Amino acid sequence: MAPARHAPLRMLLLGGSGRLGTALHEQVPQDWTLISPPRSKLDLAQATTRDLQAWVRTSAPSVVLNAAAMAWVDECEEQPEAAEQINALAPGRLATACALEAVPLLHISTDYVFGDVNSGGPAPYAENRAACPVQVYGSSKARGETAVQAAGGRASVVRVSWLTEADGGSFLAFLQEQLKRDPSRVEVLTAQRSRPTLLPGLCRWLFALSELLANGHDAPAFLHPAGGAAATRGEWADHLLKELGYHQVELIEQQGQATSPEHSLRATDQRAPRPLDSSLDGRATRSFSQQAGLPELDDWQGSPPVTD
Ligand SMILES: NC(=O)c1ccc[n+]([C@@H]2O[C@H](COP(=O)([O-])OP(=O)(O)OC[C@H]3O[C@@H](n4cnc5c(N)ncnc54)[C@H](OP(=O)(O)O)[C@@H]3O)[C@@H](O)[C@H]2O)c1
Repeated sequence: MAPARHAPLRMLLLGGSGRLGTALHEQVPQDWTLISPPRSKLDLAQATTRDLQAWVRTSAPSVVLNAAAMAWVDECEEQPEAAEQINALAPGRLATACALEAVPLLHISTDYVFGDVNSGGPAPYAENRAACPVQVYGSSKARGETAVQAAGGRASVVRVSWLTEADGGSFLAFLQEQLKRDPSRVEVLTAQRSRPTLLPGLCRWLFALSELLANGHDAPAFLHPAGGAAATRGEWADHLLKELGYHQVELIEQQGQATSPEHSLRATDQRAPRPLDSSLDGRATRSFSQQAGLPELDDWQGSPPVTD
């Protein structure tokens, strides 16, 4: 089912100044109009359902994409009330506004809704698995997902993991900063496992999915656009370093602390625990994408996409 053309296409994008939002701006297809109010005009912590409904009605979008979040994991641990407002409550109000205006919503969420093996079982986590977060960020995002689905509109929760620019982004910058001090070694949370997701391919996929929704097609309630294989941070660091031409760099386990639950880890300078393994299983999404004619996601290793 290849999406049929249906112009003009308009997206109301929330969180347009963030990492994902910036990548979406950079890759917006020619025939799309992006309406992306900054926080100074639309503060999701303050906006009521009525305010949001007015934004949706006035901007008349074909689709709303919510990339706004309190996405810094340690900040959420320090400010749980603010995290609750932006990650849990605001998405529910936005989804209600979209449902009232009969506009489809794509709500971006995270692999960090998973990871507590004791309550939720081990990775990889398929689209229909129950949330089992290990920190405030993940639990606030999980409540946001529930609120979005409870609103009753045409809404899909799109869980993404380890977003990264095509050149390695902030993770590469983190490695390079260490190499400036000592070119023979870098410290990372070598055991932490998930799936690096390249932003260019994800953005292409999100716009194609948006076009499908704009044309009246439905999408599953939960989607895991996971291209490439899952990896540890150690494997990812090793890949980036080799691409840069560093073949002799020693990977050192970053100094960590014991955390609870035990299937999580935290570097000493981090406030919140990270799941040891939050890898998403994207097989159902891949099968939907193929049937719907959506583009394939990039593989962070640069090789052809895997089939799990
Ligand atoms: N980055 C990752 O590796 C990663 C991994 C998994 C999932 N995700 C999910 O992907 C989505 C996008 O993440 P990101 O990395 O792009 O986040 P980000 O760079 O931190 O950007 C967050 C965006 O949300 C906006 N925002 C925050 N509070 C707001 C408020 N009260 N009202 C209006 N806007 C507000 C920010 O606006 P300001 O510029 O005004 O602050 C910014 O545009 C999030 O749902 C996140 O949970 C990200």
